[in-house]
Amino acid sequence: MRILVTGGAGFIGSTTAELLLDLGHDVVVLDSLVTGSRDNVPTRATFVHGDCGDVDLVGSLGALDACIHFAGLIEPRASMKYPERFFANNVASSLRLFDALVGIHVPKVVFSSSCAVYGDQDAMPISEDRPVAPLSPYGRSKRMVEETLEWLATLGRIRAASLRYFNAAGATLAHPEAHQPEGHLIPVALDVAAGRRGHLDVYGTDFPTPDGTCVRDYIHVSDLAAAHVAAIGALDGHDELILNLGSETGSSNRDVINAVERVTGVTLDVRYVARRAGDPAAAVASSARAREVLGWRPERSDLEVVVADAWAARQQISR
Ligand SMILES: NC(=O)c1ccc[n+]([C@@H]2O[C@H](COP(=O)([O-])OP(=O)(O)OC[C@H]3O[C@@H](n4cnc5c(N)ncnc54)[C@H](O)[C@@H]3O)[C@@H](O)[C@H]2O)c1
Repeated sequence: MRILVTGGAGFIGSTTAELLLDLGHDVVVLDSLVTGSRDNVPTRATFVHGDCGDVDLVGSLGALDACIHFAGLIEPRASMKYPERFFANNVASSLRLFDALVGIHVPKVVFSSSCAVYGDQDAMPISEDRPVAPLSPYGRSKRMVEETLEWLATLGRIRAASLRYFNAAGATLAHPEAHQPEGHLIPVALDVAAGRRGHLDVYGTDFPTPDGTCVRDYIHVSDLAAAHVAAIGALDGHDELILNLGSETGSSNRDVINAVERVTGVTLDVRYVARRAGDPAAAVASSARAREVLGWRPERSDLEVVVADAWAARQQISR
């Protein structure tokens, strides 16, 4: 198949593009490099520099069998400050992308949605049947794109899978997690272990969780990549899919710190500070629907493996 990967210069997009290439597909990466890096694009892929909302550019890419749409701004906290940037980049550009894809008869799209659509839920694990209640413009932008895809699928214009990832983590050696700026707990903790940062701030110790720190569900980026490949296949039998992708295991911030200390052998300088507004206490997936529909299960999402893989990849970054 010939597959368009928007955002393929980023963390999850580059890892998925690499897997698609390994499986023998042709991959076109379209990325504006607003946060991604050209070096991260697999050398075997065709790279097109541009915005995914550039209708003429997308229309000129030639025949495509599917699009995996990773491109987007990803920081919920930045979206609280600059909502207009998030709606412009994550929603308006996506709508123009879908217009272009329908125009050139691309039959399938797989979209990077997020557990941020659920907001703060009381009971874990979270299944897809829970009402959505995003707390940030970022989460709302994801839901707006999902809704657009639901309509396009209902109208028979494109088959669409929205994959709601929980916390993407781990890494392959070729594509370490290196967001710009980096706000994710595991890479920041690993940077402290490597001496690239002085200390680690942990936000909140008074959450209603077993140890008082936030609980998250870390899913290995390799498992996410595999789910995207499976979703393209599953759309042969479904017009529309909404699926959670998580490990179904909750890990607190303290669990992550303990795992980082075990893997690296370094005791971290951790500073416990006040909660940040908008951080849900817990977010743990039920991925039962993805397991059933995709025939998929996480293979590398045990926390110790996630941290060890992230550490191996991150040690290659020289700064
Ligand atoms: N990292 C996570 O834990 C997580 C969780 C849930 C959902 N997601 C979603 O997964 C997707 C990929 O996340 P990531 O962690 O790889 O982020 P990333 O920042 O590493 O990658 C995003 C890529 O999209 C590109 N991009 C942004 N806007 C663009 C546009 N308008 N046109 C073309 N390219 C554009 C950036 O340059 C970057 O290369 C995002 O949509 C994100 O919201 C990520």
